[in-house]
Amino acid sequence: LDNGLARTPQMGWNDWNTFFCNVNESLIRQTADVMVSSGMAAAGYTYVNIDDCWSTKSRNANGDLVPDPQKFPSGMKALADYVHAKGLKLGIYSSAGTTTCAGYPASLGYERRDAALWASWGIDYLKYDNCGDHQGRSGQQRYTAMRDALAATGRPILYSLCNWGQESVWTWGMPVGNSWRTTGDIAANWNSIMGILDQQVGLEAYSGPGGWNDPDMLEVGVGALTATEGRAHFSLWSLLNAPLIAGNDIRSMSAETRSILTNTEVIAVNQDWGGRQGHKISDNGNLEIWRKPMSDGSVAVVLLNRGTSTSTVSTTASALGLASVSSYSVRDLWAHTTSSSSGTISASVPGHGAAMYIVTGGGIVPTPTVAIKGVASNRC
Ligand code: DGJ
Repeated sequence: LDNGLARTPQMGWNDWNTFFCNVNESLIRQTADVMVSSGMAAAGYTYVNIDDCWSTKSRNANGDLVPDPQKFPSGMKALADYVHAKGLKLGIYSSAGTTTCAGYPASLGYERRDAALWASWGIDYLKYDNCGDHQGRSGQQRYTAMRDALAATGRPILYSLCNWGQESVWTWGMPVGNSWRTTGDIAANWNSIMGILDQQVGLEAYSGPGGWNDPDMLEVGVGALTATEGRAHFSLWSLLNAPLIAGNDIRSMSAETRSILTNTEVIAVNQDWGGRQGHKISDNGNLEIWRKPMSDGSVAVVLLNRGTSTSTVSTTASALGLASVSSYSVRDLWAHTTSSSSGTISASVPGHGAAMYIVTGGGIVPTPTVAIKGVASNRC
């Protein structure tokens, strides 16, 4: 969406993956505090996003949505002011139907009224879900109506479509939203993350600056997901140019979880200005190679081991699309070390794990670009 926002994938936090309906203003304030004190804000995380269950069960006499006075006694304007004073931005949630997934009033038919209300509070981000009755209208119609309502407010509001990949949203999402969910909901386990990963194959042609494929929010540090799994998840989501929306309780996160979420070398792959999404180049049983062309002519690569035991995962500079030279520089984005290679890129990768590198040298061999309707950038 050409609204000046999300020129690189948006970064922030959302309450849903850990708190579900248990959202309230002290959680949001404390999370904003920790976004700054933990170093997450410095690493690029900006949006503090409220998900479902923030309102009362019905609109007021004017027809406006009302923040639940038990959960948000100070109101949303005061909360936005608090978050803004921290140098951060505040996100809200609604649905392109008659109700949200948890049964709260939603915005179908109330687009202009609700967008104007959010703008008056100082809201900076809308996650727009797909629950409730659709009154016979297509997703494209319903999501476009809210795009126009947000634009009419005159306030820059990042617009995150959440219709779970329905109606092949990636084929029409670019002119409508800043990101679009490509699948159903993620859960904090390896199989869920791998199932979502598989559904991203082929979607890389549709994303670019201003509009991103969204494989759902991060589960790093949530539930029983291990640190090894978390590093793989974060490596892959970064390579996919996914919005990096943390879903853990950052107030109580371990030092290890924090170090994963604030790995600025991995984040730099996600935030590369060229905006070319990474994609799978090969798989061999449980071992997969994913690469992303970087705008400086280097290539980011993830060596993924989906199995349960440690395996050697290998590729070559040539397979990554780099021209032939005698020596390549290989930067390990998790160990933070640099080595050189004559062409083989290889690592011993633990089960449910990944290694991630940037390989530099030779430059990227040009491949024919594929022009996609409505998409500003080309696939490499
Ligand atoms: C479905 C979405 O996909 C989730 O991310 C979350 O927003 C829930 N709805 C909230 O009800």
